Amino acid sequence: MIKLYARSYQRVLRILSPAMPWRVPDLLEGEDSVLDLPTKLTEKGVKNVLIVTDAGITKIGLMEPLLQKLNEAGILYTIYDKTVPNPTIENVEEAREVYEIKGCEGIIAFGGGSPIDCAKAIAARISRPNKSVTQLKGVLKVRKKIPPLYAVPTTSGTGSEGTLAAVISNKKTQEKFAINDHSLIPHVAVLDPLLTIGLPKHITSMTGMDALTHAVEAYIGKSTTAETRSYCTKAVKLIFENLYEAYENGSNVEARKQMQQASYFAGLAFTRSYVGYVHSIAHTLSGFYDVPHGLANAVIMPHVLRYYGEAVQHSLAELADVVGIGKGESLQRKANLFIEAIEEMNAKLDIPNKIEGILDQDFPKMIKHAQAETIPLYPVPKLLKNDELFYLYQAIQGTP
Ligand SMILES: NC(=O)c1ccc[n+]([C@@H]2O[C@H](COP(=O)([O-])OP(=O)(O)OC[C@H]3O[C@@H](n4cnc5c(N)ncnc54)[C@H](O)[C@@H]3O)[C@@H](O)[C@H]2O)c1
Ligand SMILES: [Fe+2]
Repeated sequence: MIKLYARSYQRVLRILSPAMPWRVPDLLEGEDSVLDLPTKLTEKGVKNVLIVTDAGITKIGLMEPLLQKLNEAGILYTIYDKTVPNPTIENVEEAREVYEIKGCEGIIAFGGGSPIDCAKAIAARISRPNKSVTQLKGVLKVRKKIPPLYAVPTTSGTGSEGTLAAVISNKKTQEKFAINDHSLIPHVAVLDPLLTIGLPKHITSMTGMDALTHAVEAYIGKSTTAETRSYCTKAVKLIFENLYEAYENGSNVEARKQMQQASYFAGLAFTRSYVGYVHSIAHTLSGFYDVPHGLANAVIMPHVLRYYGEAVQHSLAELADVVGIGKGESLQRKANLFIEAIEEMNAKLDIPNKIEGILDQDFPKMIKHAQAETIPLYPVPKLLKNDELFYLYQAIQGTP
């Protein structure tokens, strides 16, 4: 019954999708392209802007060149830098108040997925002042133009600069949920690889694996299109070729650039073709224990892919071809080799194969949250029952 409901819901979304108001951000690309951002604001008549970022970014002074350019262009700005990883409803409300008090006319999101998602949720709240953040949860609850939104990613992972999602945490219920609406796709995205040069090794690895998870989950799902499949395969190839190099040799601009592209492509893929159980389980681990999003995905992905079994054999074998492994082998063997290649990548990036500290007593609630996120929205290759998720949580926890 649930299966029929979920699959019918996904079918309707698939049919409606081409008629949805999809757009892609205007791109500023290349080294130092962030310095061209003030011109974009001026073109739009934005003279007073809220910059949403986090304390880590302000501390290292990564925004300084942009701030100088904003000053030169005569654009006023106010910085909100209290965004936490896994941004909260409190972050959104606090920053929204600053936006209103200062009379801002647009938002620059500067940072990783956390500041970008926080900025998207602020924008949603501004266009829907009578709805709370929790009331905006779900699909197509905003449906109104948002203020001009400029996304400047400084990690290469979430792809949030090109997606319709804002993922927000409710600290009271430990729930991490998404606001999904086409109006939240940023108007402009800046892909400046130099902003990612100083990304510490562990953040490079975790965020890079988040991008890989987007590409793989979108590819194996049941709502792909020729376009999203092409974004997925491009992203997977780029990540296999560049993530380890970006991790080992952070100042390699070319590797950083390719990872930034890969993350953007993977974002474009999953925003139309969705993610799956890896993400819904990952969101529960971030909601309950603040596990970084990319780390959770990296650990969970091989477990879930292996569990899907035959349902993903064909698509994983295709991805194995994309990265050139298992030539001439059977589909099953290729799929297994692809999963093993992900595990090898994790090992090379010093990512563990389990997450410490998951409490058995939290299983029932986490399973409920993960199922609620997945069903009916995500076109997963296989719908899993609660006891199957129970098994997966145990595997992720490292219980033999
Ligand atoms: N909206 C979407 O489509 C989407 C997709 C995937 C993930 N997400 C969400 O994004 C969030 C995770 O984002 P993230 O993985 O990019 O991490 P993040 O934004 O939480 O940043 C992690 C850390 O990296 C630091 N950092 C960022 N850029 C840096 C740089 N260039 N140099 C040095 N330090 C830097 C930050 O200060 C922070 O401490 C999660 O909440 C996740 O759920 C959203
Ligand atoms: Fe993600």
